[in-house]
Amino acid sequence: MVDPVVWDIGYLVSASLFILGIKKLSSPKTAPDGNRLGALGMLLAVLVTLAKLQTEGVIGWELIIAGLAVGGIIGVVMATRVEMTGMPELVAMFNGFGGGASALVGMSEALRAIKSDSIPELPTEFYATWVAIGLTALIGWITLTGSLVAMMKLKGGFTIPLSGKWVRFPTWGPIWLNPVKILLLASAFWLIWMTIQDPANEQWIYALLGVSCLLGILFVLPIGGADMPVVVSLLNSLSGIAAAFTGFVIGNNVLIIAGSMVGAAGLVLTFIMCKAMNRELFDVLFKSFGSFAETATLTRTKVGSDAEEVAMMIDGAQKVIIIPGYGMAVSQCQHQVKEFADLVSEKFDTEVKYAIHPVAGRMPGHMNVLLAEANVPYEQLIEMDDINPEMHEADVALIIGANDTTNPVARSGEGPLAGMPIINADAARTVVIIKRGLSVGYAGVDNDLFYMDKTMMLFGDGKKMMNELNSAIKDL
Ligand code: TAP
Repeated sequence: MVDPVVWDIGYLVSASLFILGIKKLSSPKTAPDGNRLGALGMLLAVLVTLAKLQTEGVIGWELIIAGLAVGGIIGVVMATRVEMTGMPELVAMFNGFGGGASALVGMSEALRAIKSDSIPELPTEFYATWVAIGLTALIGWITLTGSLVAMMKLKGGFTIPLSGKWVRFPTWGPIWLNPVKILLLASAFWLIWMTIQDPANEQWIYALLGVSCLLGILFVLPIGGADMPVVVSLLNSLSGIAAAFTGFVIGNNVLIIAGSMVGAAGLVLTFIMCKAMNRELFDVLFKSFGSFAETATLTRTKVGSDAEEVAMMIDGAQKVIIIPGYGMAVSQCQHQVKEFADLVSEKFDTEVKYAIHPVAGRMPGHMNVLLAEANVPYEQLIEMDDINPEMHEADVALIIGANDTTNPVARSGEGPLAGMPIINADAARTVVIIKRGLSVGYAGVDNDLFYMDKTMMLFGDGKKMMNELNSAIKDL
């Protein structure tokens, strides 16, 4: 028999690797190492748990290998097949699966205790376990269904089978939904109480499952527009909290530590996102602040410019600020953007900076990751609050596939973008916008910036237009 201390030492090392990993994630330079340390910690935790279960005779090697093979194959296929633009949805789905897995573990522990008639007698142990099971179920199921709705919202919609018609995923949240949500939340706590009062009865566990799943859907359904980043990071946090409760249920320390870290990190990110959007978390969850606008009907027109015209205008510019957005991720033109920055700084001696909005793209840090992949020096990436005071000094604001994050309508008090801080592109002397047409951004709001006299539109796919612009600059 292996001394149990061995398992604890394994978990301690793995928890230390998580802590070191998360510490290193705080700087872009050390972040890749942080990721590796975290992954190593997780591998160690999984191996220690499997070895422990095998030694205790809970599961056999056949089951372990089968589980690893099935999970591994699904993971590799999903990760290799996903497009870069599909990453945010995949991350949302993984959050949901994390919550669902925790809820399933909690439920199976409860059902096992009921079926084997081994409900603990001791009041303290009983309460601790049953409250943890109840909270795992509540938070886990909410995370699962909420994340699936968030995934559909990030995707934007779905295609109706056979007809092939694309339908936008609805953002629905009438005012009476709030009392319903509060009522459901109260009944979920009542059901947890009932599982404690009447632990031998399975029906409370299934009822809690149903109510929690419904709550997840109803919480995320009314949130849309520009507020989705807050929801995505909150769900991420909830998946960690659910895992931490599962750790209490099955008495696994490393799960408690890892879950708490994900929960805390996700919560910090949620508040960063709230600050970036100038929102209170309560308002996002209960006021449907960010409902999608009815997609604006575009009646205005704007004549497009061509790459040569823009290249000539940029010749002589002393300062260019590049503002990337979701369209850069779609067209994957980050390498062409870096080439542009190198070209103008070498050829025209132009100072180039990148303005990074905290919610640009579809996942936190989306622009930073793409630009880092293209080897853009991290010092050139300037956060919104730091770049805005410089915007009026820029000769050119070059917007590549950004829309909501530069939309001046956010300064007004109305619509889904109301109050959201933006990058003040309109303060630059000239604005160049690369996008395929005059269509709206994620929040569905028309953008006055396109129609300003100082704005030149380069209509087309981001990569194609950046290539044309770079060629035109080389030809000058
Ligand atoms: P968006 O407002 O989403 O606008 C992106 C623009 O990119 C679109 O207007 C589109 O215009 C253009 N585009 C798409 N494909 C393109 C291509 N191949 N080439 C060139 N342009 C292309 O972008 P944003 O400014 O980055 O704002 C992000 C929005 O998403 C915010 O509302 C934010 O709240 C929301 N959101 C963010 C997150 C996170 S965590 N970052 C999560 C969920 C939602 P065309 O169709 O005309 O080309």
